Amino acid sequence: MRTAISLILGLIASYGGPVLADHEAGRDVFRESCIGCHAIGCNRIGPKLGGIIGRTAGAIADFDGYSDAMRKSGIIWSKETLNAYLTDPASVVPENAMASFGRIDDEAKRRDLIDFLIEPDNSLDLCF
Ligand code: HEC
Repeated sequence: MRTAISLILGLIASYGGPVLADHEAGRDVFRESCIGCHAIGCNRIGPKLGGIIGRTAGAIADFDGYSDAMRKSGIIWSKETLNAYLTDPASVVPENAMASFGRIDDEAKRRDLIDFLIEPDNSLDLCF
């Protein structure tokens, strides 16, 4: 059954149907654009991103680098809010400390990256 579903989804994707996010490609985007500052399982220059979906912005208690802007933003991270933030961090949370460093202009890359962040692994973590 699973095979049949994958086959059908694959066919839809290859015939220009709904575009499916690519988890592996998302890990690559995370490697290229995020691991300089973030990890999944530990805080670095930026807060840890494990469990980000469903979390309130600015909520990691042992991370002391949040801006007031982030802590007071009231955002709950979801696919949609992450997509907006990664499209243009400074317009979604003005004066936030990440500024345009986490900005991803390419829509497909953002989709893949968010897919990775929904169910991330810590294979790329640089925790020291
Ligand atoms: C130059 C360092 C840097 C880079 C690169 C960077 N970030 Fe950040 N990120 C931060 C900092 C610092 C904060 C805290 C911002 C604040 O409090 O204003 C942050 C905050 C965040 C938050 C909010 C977390 C929370 O707990 O509310 C998310 C989500 C996020 N970053 C995702 C990403 C993603 C995804 C990438 C890669 C595309 C990325 N960031 C790249 C430094 C960075």
